[in-house]
Amino acid sequence: MFALHAVAGLGLTAYTLKRILDTPSRKYDNNVGKEYDAWTEEGVLEYYWGEHIHLGYYSDEELARGYLKKDFKQAKFDFVDEMLKFSGAQNPKKILDVGCGFGGTSRHLAKKFKDASVTGITLSPKQVQRGTELAKEQGVGNVQFQVMDALAMEFPDDTFDLVWACESGEHMPDKKKYVEEMTRVLKPGGTLVIACWCQREETPETPFSAQDKEDLQFLYDEWAHPYFISIEEFGRLMNGTGKLEKVHTANWNKNTLASWRHSIWVGVFDPWIVVFKGPRIWYKTVREIVTIERMHQAFAKELMQYGMMAGTKALPSAKPSEGKADARVPVSASA
Ligand SMILES: C[S@@+](CC[C@H](N)C(=O)[O-])C[C@H]1O[C@@H](n2cnc3c(N)ncnc32)[C@H](O)[C@@H]1O
Repeated sequence: MFALHAVAGLGLTAYTLKRILDTPSRKYDNNVGKEYDAWTEEGVLEYYWGEHIHLGYYSDEELARGYLKKDFKQAKFDFVDEMLKFSGAQNPKKILDVGCGFGGTSRHLAKKFKDASVTGITLSPKQVQRGTELAKEQGVGNVQFQVMDALAMEFPDDTFDLVWACESGEHMPDKKKYVEEMTRVLKPGGTLVIACWCQREETPETPFSAQDKEDLQFLYDEWAHPYFISIEEFGRLMNGTGKLEKVHTANWNKNTLASWRHSIWVGVFDPWIVVFKGPRIWYKTVREIVTIERMHQAFAKELMQYGMMAGTKALPSAKPSEGKADARVPVSASA
């Protein structure tokens, strides 16, 4: 009898725990700045992910050797360098980092292009404060950070040579406006490059299953994302501005997927910052691990795709070509 009660009790606990973890806790509700302020103040995200809040890049050779052999934070610097190559930008003098986080990318670009001026914008005042502190500590003078909404930027038209958006589009409630605003502030001849978590394109032949929809809804809701779009839709939005040319897109699942589980392992190897923070952070960390694993699963089965998109703003005399994105050979994910 006792054994029966114990099994029933354990079953009920497991069921309740699963229900709690399956119920998203940070739905999008104009709360993006507030959530990033909290992540910044807690310090856990910066401790593990370093200055960059985006996935890392693992080359085919590194993947063959095993992703755990690569330094987790170095993978993020490598990602920025690969993204720069993908953009095709040459020697930009004015750079805008849209949704800059703690400004890791802004500082990296400012160090690389010493005679450039780099501006990072975010919705989080705490990130502006931390980004500015780190720039000072590292002696980077050609970078500055501001709280500003990417959907209503205060910059005049045609201001920047390079507009860079790495993993900020996920949070945008209006993706069309996001693309249009970034194109507006781009100088003719300048480059727009976007990295964004995308959902696969849904077509009448390949509709989402009920499980796909449930998985996506959880991934939208847990980290304050209003919704995702497909890589193809980004291509259409970019071409639809009528101002961008040479629009090209790619799916980088294969070379970024390892980041998810790698981020869990770095916590397992060095759990102490979390251990000493107390029950609220323990709970939050368990939720993050569950979400990270669910992200891994969704990208591994290509329900989610790592979108890379770039284009150039046409010069006034040139007529940008209307039509489809030039989808470069997509790199498919390995499960
Ligand atoms: C996942 S972090 C990416 C950080 C950064 N790009 C990096 O490389 O480390 C998302 C960033 O997008 C910013 N963001 C989200 N919505 C925004 C908006 N409407 N305007 C400006 N920034 C926004 C957040 O404040 C946060 O800094």
